[in-house]
Amino acid sequence: MVYKYTFGKPFETESVIDEPAEINRINCQQQDQNLAFGNVSINQNLLQNCNSSIPSLELSDFAFKYNYRLGDDDLIFGLGETTRGINKRGFLFKSWCSDDPSHTEDKTSLYGAHNFLIVYTPAGKTNPNPKAFALFFDYPGLLQIDCGYTSKNALTVSAPSADINIYIIEENHSFVLNAICKTFRKMIGKSYLPPFWAFGYQQSRWSYYTADEVRNVLKNYQKAGIPLDAIYLDIDYMQGYRDFTIDEKKFPNFAYFVQELKDQGVHPVPIIDAGVKADPEYSVDREGIEKGYFCKKEDGSVFTAGVWPGKSHFPDFLNDEARAWFGDYYNFLTKKGIDGFWNDMNEPALFYSEDGIKKVFAELKESLDDTNLDINSFFGLRDKVARLANNPKDYASFYHTVKNAAGETQKISHDKVHNMYGYMMTRSAAEALQRNLPDKEILLFSRASMIGMHRYSGIWTGDNCAWWEHLRLSLRQMPGLNMCGFLYCGSDIGGFGCNTSRELLLRWLAFAMWTPLMRNHTAAGTRAQECYAFEQVEDFRQIISLRYRLIPHIYSEFVYARQENELLFKPLCFEYPEDKIALQTEDQLMFGRSIMIAPVVEPNVRGRFVYLPEAMQMVFFSSSACGLESGLPQITEMEKGVHFVECEPNQVFFFIKKGHSVPLAMPAPCTAKLNCNDLTYIGK
Ligand code: GLC
Repeated sequence: MVYKYTFGKPFETESVIDEPAEINRINCQQQDQNLAFGNVSINQNLLQNCNSSIPSLELSDFAFKYNYRLGDDDLIFGLGETTRGINKRGFLFKSWCSDDPSHTEDKTSLYGAHNFLIVYTPAGKTNPNPKAFALFFDYPGLLQIDCGYTSKNALTVSAPSADINIYIIEENHSFVLNAICKTFRKMIGKSYLPPFWAFGYQQSRWSYYTADEVRNVLKNYQKAGIPLDAIYLDIDYMQGYRDFTIDEKKFPNFAYFVQELKDQGVHPVPIIDAGVKADPEYSVDREGIEKGYFCKKEDGSVFTAGVWPGKSHFPDFLNDEARAWFGDYYNFLTKKGIDGFWNDMNEPALFYSEDGIKKVFAELKESLDDTNLDINSFFGLRDKVARLANNPKDYASFYHTVKNAAGETQKISHDKVHNMYGYMMTRSAAEALQRNLPDKEILLFSRASMIGMHRYSGIWTGDNCAWWEHLRLSLRQMPGLNMCGFLYCGSDIGGFGCNTSRELLLRWLAFAMWTPLMRNHTAAGTRAQECYAFEQVEDFRQIISLRYRLIPHIYSEFVYARQENELLFKPLCFEYPEDKIALQTEDQLMFGRSIMIAPVVEPNVRGRFVYLPEAMQMVFFSSSACGLESGLPQITEMEKGVHFVECEPNQVFFFIKKGHSVPLAMPAPCTAKLNCNDLTYIGK
C-alpha cells in the first residue's frame, strides 16, 4: 500500500512520475496529523516567518516535523549519497546539496539530496516476520533527518516549511525490503541507461592540459596493455573556464582530435560547470542576460557569484525556457564528435557572492590596523572569509522564475528549491541531447543530484580522498544510491584529494570493477594516478582486464535492474532477511542476482574475513596463469559461515550463489572490441 500525505502547497518536483493506481491520497491541512506510520506536527507560529536559509536550524525552529518511534532493533536504510554506514541509524543527516570536498563522517550532507528511507524491523519476539515501511519526503528544500541521534528511539524528519508531500510505502512480502524499493523505484521512473562504452575503464585528472597530454595518456595505457574507453577533459580545456568553448591553443583542431581518440576506441568526456562566466564579450553570458535566463536577486538584477572563472551567472534551470536554452549549447560539443559529459559545481557551488565579498572586504578594511587579535577576533576574522563560500544567506538571496500548476509565473527563492538545481541542470542537458540527437546514446553524469535526476543521468560521488576510509564509504554508498534510483554510479577510484598509493589504487580497482561507472580521477597537484605510473603495471592490467571480461554480465545485470526496478548492489540482509549477521554486514554486498562481493578495504592485509549467509562458490583469480587476464579462475565450494580468504592486492575473489553461473568474455582493449558472443560460463 502507498499513502500520499499532502501538507500545504508543495512545490512540484517531478521526482515521482508514476503514482500507483491504488494509492491512498490524504490531504492534510490540520496539525498533529497521524499517519500510517508515525505522526506529523506543524508549528503554525513558524509557518509565516521562518528563515529557511539557515541549514543549522535547531529542531525547535522547524515548521514541519515528522516523528516515528523506532524499536531498539530497527535499522534504517536508504538516503542515497550520505556519509557513514549502510544502516543510517544513530546520526543526523541534512538533505542539502553541498559542495564540500571533505567527506569526513561528521558531515551531515554531501552533494546529493535523496529523501528516501526505509525503517526495517527484523523478526523478533513480538513479530514473527520482519516488517518494514519506507518514507519519501518529496520536498526540494532543506530537510533534517534525525535517525535516532537526538534521542535514540526517535526518527524525526523536519522541514522549515510545511508545504510537503510524504509518501509512505508498506509491502507484505517475505523479501519486504526489496519489494518496497521496487515499488518506490517504479513510482520515480526508470533509471538512466548509459551507452555500452561507459562500462569500460575511464581515466581522468584535473587536468590534462593539452591535447598532447591526453594523447600521451592514451599511448601509455596502450603500451601497458591496459584497456581504456574514456579520457576526461577537466576545466582547463575551456577558454578561461567558459562553458561551451575550447582553448584552441591547447586543443587545436578539436573535432579532429576527438575523432583521432575515438578511432582508437577512446571517448573524450568534457566537463560542463553550472556557473557561466560573467563577461559581456562571451556570447553565452550575453545571451543569457538578454533573454533573462539567469537567476535574479530580489531587485531584479542578475545574481553574481564567484566560481572557477571568477564572477559568474547562474542559469535558471528551473525555468523551462532557460533549461532548453542552456541544454542546446551541448550541441557545440556534440557537433565536434563528443558523446559524453559530466556536469559539475551544480549544487550550485558558490565561492563567494558579489554582495558577500564586498561586505567582508569592507569589514576587513575597517580592522586592517588591528594586528593584535585575541581568540575571538582571530577566529572571527578567519570565519568571515571561510563563510564566504556556499553561504546559506546567498542561497536565500536569489530567485527562480517558474510556472505553477495553473500556468502562472511565480518567483521562488532559491533556498526553497535548492536541491533541484543540479537535477534541473542535468535535465537541461539530457532533454536537449534527446531532442537534438534522438538516436544517439550519450554518457551523462552529475555531481549534485536529487531523486528524479536518476532518469536523466548517473552520478559520481564527488571529491573523496585517497583514504582507505573512502574506499569503504564508496562501497557503503552504492546500495543507498540504487534504492534512490541511481544505478550508473561510481566514486573517484584511487581518491580525488591527497596522494594515492599503489596498494590503495589496486584494492579500489578490485572493488570498482563492479561499479557501472569505473573512473580513476584525481585533483590538481596530486601524484600521477594513472595505472601505468606504478610499479608492476601488469597487476593493474590484470584487474582491469577482468572488469572487461565481466562487462557482458555487469551490463546485463544493469539492464535487468533498470528494467525490473531492482537494486544492482544490495545489502546482504535484503536477500537474507532472517540472518542476524547479514543484518550487520557493512563491508560485503550482493551484486545483481547471483554474486556476492567482499572487497578488501584495509591496508597491509593479505586477505579478509568473509561471511557467507549460505553455501556459495568462491571464484578466485590468483594471477594471469589463474584467470585474471584470459584463463579461468579456481572455484571452491564454501560452507555458510565465517571464512578467512587470503587475497593479495593483485588478486580478486568473489562468490557466486549456488545454482548460478556467470559469463566471462575474453579480454579486450576497449568495449568496442569486446566479443560478447564468445563467453565462458563459470560456476554451476
Ligand atoms: C570539482 C569536481 C572535480 C573536478 C574539479 C575541477 O572539485 O568535483 O571532480 O576535478 O572540480 O573541475
